[in-house]
Amino acid sequence: MSADHLVLVGLMGSGKSSVGRRVADALGRPFVDTDQRVERREGRTIRDIFATDGEAVFRDIESSVLVDVLSSTEPAVIATGGGIVTRSDNRDLLAEGRDSGVHVVWLRATVDTLAARLAAGASRRPLLDGDVRGRLTELDERRRDLYGAVASEVVDVDDRTLDDVVSAVLAATESR
Ligand code: S3P
Repeated sequence: MSADHLVLVGLMGSGKSSVGRRVADALGRPFVDTDQRVERREGRTIRDIFATDGEAVFRDIESSVLVDVLSSTEPAVIATGGGIVTRSDNRDLLAEGRDSGVHVVWLRATVDTLAARLAAGASRRPLLDGDVRGRLTELDERRRDLYGAVASEVVDVDDRTLDDVVSAVLAATESR
């Protein structure tokens, strides 16, 4: 672990990529999206990886991408896939980084907020196939404590504009 990265975690639809891009601009840092890295490395979409090889293979690739991006010496803003916390190795890596200066910010949202946002964006997310709200409720129940365990800061995003969330992330990470 070699740089003071700012890592965003949270469920699908919490705004990790859009917030991350803006925070990176504000800080003049590179922006990295682990989902995009996975797709670029594999030359196929996440949906294709799930369909052809299954979720476990996707998680292996995602973990390897996380190791790579965290080991970069240039401080970056990193948006992670919502399931990054499901692997204990990833949680250990994030907790270890946090202890040495990496900010891990949980963009926390209610299922109502996420379901409303994802009504149109669920198609590229295989874990939301079928009943989007039901799937989000399940994932929220399973992952809430995991996000809490790795986060150094929590920013609630419900009923807030993108600008407001970006400011809150910057404030939360500046104050430490
Ligand atoms: C997933 C979230 C997705 C993507 C994959 C699995 C999850 O990323 O990594 O579809 O398990 O929550 P986003 O959170 O960026 O949508």
